[in-house]
Amino acid sequence: MTPTISFKTPAKVNLGLHILSKREDGFHELETLFQMVNWCDEIKIECLSRGLELVCNQPDIPNDEGNLVIKAAHILQTRFPERCKGAKIHLNKNIPHGAGLGGGSGNAAGVLLGLNFLWGLKLKREELISMASELGSDVPFFLFSPCAIGRGRGEILEPVKSSVRFYILMVYPGFAVSTASVFGNLKLKLTKRENNISILKNFLLQSEFAQLGAAWSNDLEPVVFQEYTGLSGIKKDMLALGAKGALLSGSGSTVFGIFDNPEIANNAYARLERGDFRLFLAESVVSLSELYPEEMLR
Ligand code: C5P
Repeated sequence: MTPTISFKTPAKVNLGLHILSKREDGFHELETLFQMVNWCDEIKIECLSRGLELVCNQPDIPNDEGNLVIKAAHILQTRFPERCKGAKIHLNKNIPHGAGLGGGSGNAAGVLLGLNFLWGLKLKREELISMASELGSDVPFFLFSPCAIGRGRGEILEPVKSSVRFYILMVYPGFAVSTASVFGNLKLKLTKRENNISILKNFLLQSEFAQLGAAWSNDLEPVVFQEYTGLSGIKKDMLALGAKGALLSGSGSTVFGIFDNPEIANNAYARLERGDFRLFLAESVVSLSELYPEEMLR
């Protein structure tokens, strides 16, 4: 029988995102509080003797080097040509693309973990994280911890040992936003910042959601709200419907709200629904074992 493994890869939201400076390499130095949420894609990998194939439920998703999943498999094959085999990867996409939810980054991280197991590479998590950072700034987080502070490009991680379960209502407005163009349009104001990420982390750990929502900000939000004027209305509506806080996730286009009461969250879901939107009510992930089988995490 062909060895296979199946798992889920989550979305993330940024519970605050501060841009500190522009670097010589063109990237931006930032600090953010990442949180995995259980809006998930599903992946099944079949181990083959050779070759690489990606099959996706969405025909518009590239199935070549344009997809981070293939890039992730290639990085392993290039680094360890003697030890790698082949694979057929089945990807069932639920998380929208260009949404600020890290869906593709999560897929790539899952494939690194899955192939490490199926191909018997026995690479340590730190080695996988180092390869992940070559694939994208958000990819290492998905190998690390369900909640973490990200610094540098986002790849320098500090775990946040949170077991706080809360509800996250995400509104994808029906269009994608390009991360590179948002960062390109950012005009940095070097003002002194009072709300550092550690303060946000403490509000989260104490389940002080209203305080978290009052204190957080996303420096990319004004850039995105200026271009896509309808998004600030979603944020206002979310707050009016009882969210403890609402914010753009990453570089958008998704606006999310946090709730500690599922009934209020469900009511907000029903009231925000519109034909061109995609909504999802998720919970915070508190353990990687909610996503990956134990053998993948060893
Ligand atoms: O690393 P990733 O491929 O996700 O980044 C996409 C683009 O977003 C980069 O090419 C860069 O323009 C921008 N970016 C940035 N600073 C970061 C992360 C991303 O300028 N910390």
